[in-house]
Amino acid sequence: MSTPTSATWSARAEGTWSAPGRVNLIGEHTDYNDGFVFPFAIEYRTSVDLAVRADGRIRVSSSFDPDPVEVALADLDDLFPGRRDEVVEWARYPLGVAWALLRATRRSAASVPGVDLVFRSDVPVGAGLSSSAAIEGATAVALNDVWGLGQDRVALAKVGRRAENEAVGAPTGIMDQMASLLGRTDAGTFLDCRTLDAEVTDLGFAPAGLELLVIDTRVTHAHSTGGYGERRAACERGAAIMGVPALRDLGVADLPRAQELMDDVTFRRVRHVVTEDQRVLDTVATLRADGPRAIGGLLDASHASMRDDFEISVPELDTAVEAARAAGAIGARMTGGGFGGAAIALVDAGLVADVTAAVEAAFAEAGFGAPHIFTVRPSEGARRDA
Ligand code: GLA
Repeated sequence: MSTPTSATWSARAEGTWSAPGRVNLIGEHTDYNDGFVFPFAIEYRTSVDLAVRADGRIRVSSSFDPDPVEVALADLDDLFPGRRDEVVEWARYPLGVAWALLRATRRSAASVPGVDLVFRSDVPVGAGLSSSAAIEGATAVALNDVWGLGQDRVALAKVGRRAENEAVGAPTGIMDQMASLLGRTDAGTFLDCRTLDAEVTDLGFAPAGLELLVIDTRVTHAHSTGGYGERRAACERGAAIMGVPALRDLGVADLPRAQELMDDVTFRRVRHVVTEDQRVLDTVATLRADGPRAIGGLLDASHASMRDDFEISVPELDTAVEAARAAGAIGARMTGGGFGGAAIALVDAGLVADVTAAVEAAFAEAGFGAPHIFTVRPSEGARRDA
């Protein structure tokens, strides 16, 4: 890594920042419908070492790609969004955050120092655990500090979402960035995606003797292509037919009328989102009243809704969920955007080995590649480490 040479900027030289991946406990494809989500940050993180440089350029490099990408800060505006394809995909995340952060704060490229950013990450990529939000979050907190921008966490989450939407080209919502930036140990982030009000809510898994198992199917997915955008379009169509700004504005009682007005596919997409919003609210209320052992049925119902109504599951995810449940999991569901990635299962600590073995056996029997199964702990959000 190069060392800072500018007398102007060397006072705020180097440091290390990091941000975590996330698991979504419940609330899938509700974020871009202005609805509710309940994710938590996990202990797998992306770290970035930052050094300032005097030449107004930004260079990003990472342990997972030997080739650094370098561009003048002043050229970011030319690059995004129109010429984003010229940048290797992973580098669009940090460069996109730098671009979106300057735009959001109306700062000129000349008013901030150039930077070298060196990333390393242990967040599994393509597993539905938001390796992308971890890069965005780490970049956002690092640049916010070093560039002295004074943005709060919600503003940084919006910057991350803009980077993902416009610099990467994935039409995703704001859940992942909020989870990565706001996470707290042993807690989930209950988020209203319309107001962006977040309530950090105790999960109580450890005191109840529970573990949260992640079953990474290793079926990879990308939200910049295909199904994710189609689902989003169907939701917008459904809201327009019902004459509401977003599906958040519908309740379960509106579903019979929706069914009369829409084609079957659009209706089932709408029914997933409307019932999923309700399941998030029910999960938070149940957790508070009765503890985490009582939420299993809601996790199961969420999976069924994604499998049958939203149609974003794949056979590997269904197998993972069914095998985990049959082996004694309290509840299980796919997590994240779907079409691959991971399932989660809430499991008695004493049953982790049994559930793991049962899922592995079910995958082998079905002829699927071996899954990667591990536990996660609700962990702290983005921070400065050194
Ligand atoms: C991806 C997106 C999120 C959210 C989920 C589905 O993770 O990045 O914004 O839409 O899918 O809940």
